[in-house]
Amino acid sequence: KGGTMTLIAILAGDGIGPEVTAQARRVLTALAPDLMFEEGLVGGAAYRAQGHPLPPETLALARRSDAVLFGAVGDPAFDALERAMRPEQAILGLRKGLGLFANLRPAKLFAGLEDASALKPEIARRIDLVIVRELTGDVYFGDKGRRLTSTGLREGHDLMRYDEVEVARIARVGFETARTRRGKLLSVDKANVLETSQVWRDVVNEVARDFRDVELGHMYVDNAAMQLVRDPGQFDTIVTGNLFGDILSDQASMCAGSIGMLPSAALGSGTLGMYEPIHGSAPDIAGQGKANPCAAILSAAMLLRHSLARPEPADRIEAAVAAAILAGARTADLGGTMSTEAMGDAIMAQLG
Ligand code: NAI
Ligand code: MG
Repeated sequence: KGGTMTLIAILAGDGIGPEVTAQARRVLTALAPDLMFEEGLVGGAAYRAQGHPLPPETLALARRSDAVLFGAVGDPAFDALERAMRPEQAILGLRKGLGLFANLRPAKLFAGLEDASALKPEIARRIDLVIVRELTGDVYFGDKGRRLTSTGLREGHDLMRYDEVEVARIARVGFETARTRRGKLLSVDKANVLETSQVWRDVVNEVARDFRDVELGHMYVDNAAMQLVRDPGQFDTIVTGNLFGDILSDQASMCAGSIGMLPSAALGSGTLGMYEPIHGSAPDIAGQGKANPCAAILSAAMLLRHSLARPEPADRIEAAVAAAILAGARTADLGGTMSTEAMGDAIMAQLG
């Protein structure tokens, strides 16, 4: 890092992770032949080989790389392990270890996939939004615990908290993202009942003074969930906390067709980012060559755009995926019969 060589860490992981990541790497190699790749073990694959889902050398590889291309982790063979050793912990460890606090999840319906959406075609066609989800705070990281009360009841608690520094930095990512799109930012909270949301809303309004060119709105999360299904076309960029963002982004993804189509980026304060499909390791179809590689390939496009500042090849990848879909290329999740590799071939062919 810092030299002239650009290093991409490939953490393919478990299940369909390696299958879809291979296609993304193919596309990256074609459009950016100067990139160097180094593979690292992560998830169940790492646990099997080294007894830990995120070995120190994998974190070190990610740290010295310019960007991380991540597949998926999760292996039913390890479901009974204690939480800290489960494959899924590797993602949390990477986010934390790399300081990645902003999760960008674009959701857009590709022309030709109207039938795959859970919404009516004329409504689905209008979806083109990005959710900017805070990744390192909220109830996931606040004080938590379980106990027996004095009257013998089982009780659990998870503290929701954000401070103004955490809110301001994710708000900035939201405004900056809106600026590169249609200039509309919606902040989603629950300010009618939550103190955390009051701080959130105040700080977002303060940060807005630096982004007068962006149109800012606020919405309660329950209404946002309803509006996402009623009329997703009204949204451009949405910024929200970790918990609300987790739920809303999964909801938005189903409006846009298959989970196999949706990429994501996890970003920090520098250029290093981690890019991954939003889907998991899909053990039900792993090893069968059935997985849709589009989400992984579109994640590679985000990698080029956000970590390497190469928007042109990123645009070309997105256009090639759109063209392949429009021409009828379909894996099983999209109602077709193409294998993972054949879908990769169809996209490579569109790249020319
Ligand atoms: P999943 O996303 O792996 O699969 C859900 C359903 O979607 C399955 O029927 C699967 O076959 C299908 N699917 C997913 N990706 C697909 C693709 N590219 N092409 C075609 N079909 C696809 O979620 P699930 O089943 O809840 O979790 C499986 C494992 O993955 C679990 O261990 C879970 O913890 C882990 N997981 C990991 C994530 C990550 O690495 N970021 C995210 C979500 C889950
Ligand atoms: Mg989720």
